[in-house]
Amino acid sequence: MKILFFGTKSYDRQFFDDTWREKQYEQIELDYVETLLTPDTARLARGYEAVCAFVNMDLSAPAIEILADCGVRLILMRSAGFNNVDLAKAKEKNITVMRVPGYSPEAVAEHAMALALTANRHTHKAYVRVRENDFSLSGLMGVTLHGKTAGIVGTGKIGAAMARICHGFGMNVLAYDVFQNPSLDFAEYTDMDTLLARSDLISLHCPLTEETYHLIHTETIAKMKDGVILVNTSRGGLICTEDLIRGIRDGKFFAVGLDVYEEEDGSVYEDLSDAILKHSTVARLLNFPNVVVTSHQGFFAREALLAISRTTMENALCFMQGKKNGNEVESK
Ligand code: NAI
Repeated sequence: MKILFFGTKSYDRQFFDDTWREKQYEQIELDYVETLLTPDTARLARGYEAVCAFVNMDLSAPAIEILADCGVRLILMRSAGFNNVDLAKAKEKNITVMRVPGYSPEAVAEHAMALALTANRHTHKAYVRVRENDFSLSGLMGVTLHGKTAGIVGTGKIGAAMARICHGFGMNVLAYDVFQNPSLDFAEYTDMDTLLARSDLISLHCPLTEETYHLIHTETIAKMKDGVILVNTSRGGLICTEDLIRGIRDGKFFAVGLDVYEEEDGSVYEDLSDAILKHSTVARLLNFPNVVVTSHQGFFAREALLAISRTTMENALCFMQGKKNGNEVESK
């Protein structure tokens, strides 16, 4: 089977080539292109049975139509999330979609806590200040997390890891999910309104679906405690950015940490330091002193990349052998 990798970065190539060599996947041939998979580039997949894509690509119906015309039978997402794939169209075109669930929940959860701590204790500013021989502390005061309440929205693999980290910090842990995670015996499951009202730190870990789109908006923000810390490492669409900006302006938040945001498509993973940003939302968010933004890097840890490459290759092998391994995703 020939697999075409879209949006390849040097680290993707390094980890996938290493995995390929390690297991001698001789039946599988890997080719890499740097371009992102979109309806405009999908035709590059002609002659390939499978494509490998990531969260920053456009696998909407038009792209999938073209992939199907090119003979693609398998979409390998090298990610856990798959909200950018039109699953109904893939099913209609008899294309299997596979993903990598839970490759390193701790990698993402640790980044969520890093964002909470950075935004709270201003370590990013302190670092720059001290390098400039400015040893003053004004504007750097934070709050302790110990003894406070964390509200975890979505307690699957990453949310559970974040809940454990918060518990380790000496926080009381509230949780909200459509299913309860029995391993979190220290957490108190509540309804969403109670979680919003009682939490000092709210961390989002549910997937982006029609149901969760703009879960955080003016009304839900109003239900939060004043001085709350909000962290989103899940998907940008969970938060209505305009409402968030209004909330920040109104002084609702002590700190906000975002690894994902609504306008990240097109800019995420690219060096745009010489460009003029086309959208203003990110620029506006970056202007607030209590907001820290990273570029969808929660997954970016060695262990996670290794697990992603190994599972993706195993997914390809399973598909070739006509087996199912539970990593297939289908429209409901
Ligand atoms: P998971 O499937 O293990 O857990 C998701 C949880 O959300 C499940 O327990 C599910 O019941 C819950 N959920 C679903 N709908 C909900 C709703 N309406 N309200 C509350 N809870 C709901 O997924 P996992 O591995 O924990 O990943 C979570 C999300 O993290 C992914 O969907 C992805 O968007 C994001 N992610 C971000 C990464 C990054 O680099 N920043 C890397 C990997 C994942």
